[in-house]
Amino acid sequence: MKKQPNGELVSFSPVALQMYDVLAEDMETVRELFGQELTTDLPLVNERIEKVGKFRGKMLRPALVLLCGRACGAIGRAHHVVATAVEMIHMAALIHDDVLDQSQIRRRGSTLNELYGNETAILAGDFLLSHSFSLCNQLEFRRLSAIIASATNMMCEGEIMQVAHVGDLDLTEDEYLQIISRKTASLCGASCRLGVECSGGSSELARDLDDYGCKLGLAFQITDDLLDLLGTEGVAGKTLGRDLLQGKLTLPLIRARQILKDSARQELMELVAQGSPNDMAAIRTIVNDCGALESVLQTSRQYIDQAIEKLSILNDSPECQALKKTAQFVVDRQV
Ligand code: IPE
Ligand code: IPE
Ligand code: MG
Ligand code: MG
Repeated sequence: MKKQPNGELVSFSPVALQMYDVLAEDMETVRELFGQELTTDLPLVNERIEKVGKFRGKMLRPALVLLCGRACGAIGRAHHVVATAVEMIHMAALIHDDVLDQSQIRRRGSTLNELYGNETAILAGDFLLSHSFSLCNQLEFRRLSAIIASATNMMCEGEIMQVAHVGDLDLTEDEYLQIISRKTASLCGASCRLGVECSGGSSELARDLDDYGCKLGLAFQITDDLLDLLGTEGVAGKTLGRDLLQGKLTLPLIRARQILKDSARQELMELVAQGSPNDMAAIRTIVNDCGALESVLQTSRQYIDQAIEKLSILNDSPECQALKKTAQFVVDRQV
């Protein structure tokens, strides 16, 4: 994302995810495996779960597994299995998150909670998690399941920490970073590591690409938090504005709180405390005018630069180029 003179955010990646062209066949295999794994002999279950597969997201985490795998060697069944498992875990988190946030739109369609109610949505999220266990069980090496389990634990810890801080207007930048490292960056880092380890890459490659994924994941969540405040639902394809309404402080507001002084800061924090949709426009203007938006964009770009530096361990290849483009997309995106 870049800031326009009028303060609007514009995307420089109109055709999102062209960088996955090199993965076309592997992505198709992942989609098929996803559908097969979730099909049961119970029509009523299939009918509800079908909606889960219908709406495709960006498939960022499977792409990270496959690109890192291909950058370090040949792709095989293990890559497809772990790529499918990480996408299921990610989607389970989104389905549960939509229940918590009472969101109505996800991936340009109605959320499961909107279509079937919270009970079905919670159980569908559980169903995705249980099927990711089944996929892990197909893996030859326990180490791969351990990486997936550890990243999922971290993701849940991050979500719990976030809920524990709801309404905490004193949330520090450090606490915010701890939350997003766990809830988002850990699964991105693990996806990269899994790709390398499935290809038999060295521990140095696994470490550096895990770092790449974690830095990218931090920038990804920071951009997401900016979009939640400043983006457009029609473009993002999901319900926005929930962070503020739910009392979740994110980096743009933390930075605005740091920058503003005295009565200006007090005015902002009073608006934030009220969490009213009517104050959204005023809060957006403050975040933009005080320089918080620019400062947050700079931070996410710094993480992306650090992520790209980690790719110097790779020989140049179409996959390495795609990993660079993916990193760039993360800060340019509006979806
Ligand atoms: C949304 O993730 C939740 C965050 C971690 C910010 P994505 O933006 O990757 O969602 P999909 O998979 O493309 O729908
Ligand atoms: C929660 O992040 C998703 C996880 C990382 C588990 P968000 O709450 O920011 O996700 P969106 O904005 O609803 O997609
Ligand atoms: Mg949410
Ligand atoms: Mg969000």
